[in-house]
Amino acid sequence: MDIGVLAQVDEQASPQVEKIMRESGAHDVQRLEETRRINSRAWAAFVAIVAALVIVAAGISLPFFYDVLRIPFPSQMVEQESIGYEQGPRLAAPAEAVPVQGPFSSPVQPASSSFPATADSLQRGKVLYNLHCFVCHGITGVGDGRLSGFFVPKPVDLTSAQSAIR
Ligand code: HEC
Repeated sequence: MDIGVLAQVDEQASPQVEKIMRESGAHDVQRLEETRRINSRAWAAFVAIVAALVIVAAGISLPFFYDVLRIPFPSQMVEQESIGYEQGPRLAAPAEAVPVQGPFSSPVQPASSSFPATADSLQRGKVLYNLHCFVCHGITGVGDGRLSGFFVPKPVDLTSAQSAIR
């Protein structure tokens, strides 16, 4: 009759145990690979942590996804009210803009006549033009500014009849 003995021992102690078993007349001694069992507690903890992370991530991102919370990012040009050249609806002129037909601007009636120029207004216009416009329209206004090559269509010739105030 054969009797099997299963001994679960430390890796280091196993040669000694094997020797003792052989000396005690064991018919055959075999070493079995240790089967690594995943500790169920560690597994539960791992699942709980992953679940918690998923819930936290969803809690943070879903309010933004469904527009419950919004971060006011600077908006793009395409999101502005007027997105194309001469395309309506036009935004009203800002309050500080130079009035062309008196203090009121009417969206249905385009600017028709400008205020008569004075030495002051010409000087102010020159300063503003040289600050904001000349890089594209050129120092003399003919559309040969340094950046003009980057545009299609090119900056218009502001001295042409086409761009004179109608
Ligand atoms: C970044 C380059 C750039 C700057 C700066 C710039 N422009 Fe222009 N401008 C253009 C281009 C390009 C066009 C032609 C656009 C088109 O035809 O679609 C244009 C067209 C115009 C037109 C003709 C619009 C029309 O309806 O025909 C006027 C007037 C004008 N610019 C005035 C100005 C004034 C005044 C300034 C400064 C306050 C200025 N621009 C600054 C590039 C520029």
